[in-house]
Amino acid sequence: MDSTTIFCLLFSSVLFLSLFKSLASGRRKLPLPPGSLGWPYIGETFELYSQNPNVFFASKVRKFGSIFKTHILGCRCVMISSPEAVKQVLVTRAHLFKPTFPASKERILGKQAFFFHQGEYHAKLRRLVLRAFMPESIKNIVSDIESVAVESLKSWEGQLINTFQEMQKYTFNVALFSIFGKDEVLHREDLKRCYYILEKGYNSMPINLPGTRFHKSMKARKELARILADILSIRRQTKHNQPDLLGSFMGDKEGLTDEQVADNIIGLIFAARDTTASVLTWIVKYLAENPSVLQAVTEEQEAIRRDNCGEDKVLTWADTKKMPVTSRVIQETLRVASILSFTFREAVEDVEFEGYLIPKGWKVLPLFRNIHHSPDHFSWPEKFDPSRFEVAPKPNTFLPFGNGTHSCPGNELAKLEILIFIHHMTTKYRWVKSHYRWSVVGPQNGIQYGPFALPHNGLPIRLSLKR
Ligand code: HEM
Repeated sequence: MDSTTIFCLLFSSVLFLSLFKSLASGRRKLPLPPGSLGWPYIGETFELYSQNPNVFFASKVRKFGSIFKTHILGCRCVMISSPEAVKQVLVTRAHLFKPTFPASKERILGKQAFFFHQGEYHAKLRRLVLRAFMPESIKNIVSDIESVAVESLKSWEGQLINTFQEMQKYTFNVALFSIFGKDEVLHREDLKRCYYILEKGYNSMPINLPGTRFHKSMKARKELARILADILSIRRQTKHNQPDLLGSFMGDKEGLTDEQVADNIIGLIFAARDTTASVLTWIVKYLAENPSVLQAVTEEQEAIRRDNCGEDKVLTWADTKKMPVTSRVIQETLRVASILSFTFREAVEDVEFEGYLIPKGWKVLPLFRNIHHSPDHFSWPEKFDPSRFEVAPKPNTFLPFGNGTHSCPGNELAKLEILIFIHHMTTKYRWVKSHYRWSVVGPQNGIQYGPFALPHNGLPIRLSLKR
């Protein structure tokens, strides 16, 4: 190598290095999004939790715009509320933003639950889950879900009930059926007992010492895993190719370990139960408050019941496709109640985002509720008006089930179980107020967060049979 070549090589390396450095420092020079990080360590946590969290988010958006920084629960966060920016985080640049949960939640649900992951493992498990919950699969369990709905409503007759708690029982039983098929009745009580202890520790301090809630939860988790291992072993010995979620997991060619199956089943029950139960609770509230909407839904459902000769349990998949009015009530409830106000991601590297820097490790929170309640996307956003869904919402403005690689794989099942429940509730039961016989008892405007937004006290109601 002559000296000119060496010089040229050295010169180009220096040029490359300085170009790289200036690019990197240029990136660093990007500003952080506007906003305030509050007090050292506690940040703005008190501000967030001392009021309705939605007021906190809305006032920040008013002050700083649709992308702003804050500091809550020990994490530096960037919150975003424009449809385009949310699409970038969840869909187009999703590889730069991984799902993130506190370590204690991962320990309780199980570290191998697929929604904690990204990449190949997530994609494979998600495919197996989607196989069990796609319309082709769930259309075969309409009558089983219907039986669960009819039984639940019968047990409410004449009683003063806590709507949310009763809906939790319904959605839990539907989730078990979709996971274990007809085998679920054999294990229902054991699974229920352990799961109820487990969930009590979900929001507790993660101190794993005898006597603490967290410790009891971890013990219940172990017992759940043991019950699930027994169910797997029985099924391996007896039957194969069941069309439920367990069958889908067992059909995986490479084979999942018992631990992977257990973590994913526990995670799935967690994702399925309280979400759907709180949406159902809000629907009851909105129907109670909007008699003309209730009447329109009842008429639609009674027409289907008449076509089915007034039989008690005969709904088909095709019937559930003849419920446009009821479907719009579900959509509007998902929008107004926005039970998942936001979700969490974490930047996997420094990301340049709309002219700002999101540093590696910062949390990124797409604010679904702010989008659903923005007058730019929905006129009179606080008004409950299902007819607005006669026209499809603008792209990326209606995200009750998220978007992209981690969007909800259970959304079809959730909508199906809600439709079936509303069918039986409106055709067989009355409201006490005016000529109806469902009465909503107690204060009606309070909202509690636990963690999903819920009507006050779980919405106590009393139903009575139509005569
Ligand atoms: C109306 C009820 C429901 C609502 C509003 C809802 C909402 C959501 C949302 C917004 C996400 C995305 C979260 C994110 O991007 O971080 C999600 C994910 C998920 N949901 Fe649902 N969900 C509901 C019912 C269900 C049901 C019934 C199931 C199971 C049968 C289910 C299973 C899941 C799972 C497993 C994920 C994680 C998916 C992934 O990470 O790939 N959900 N849900």
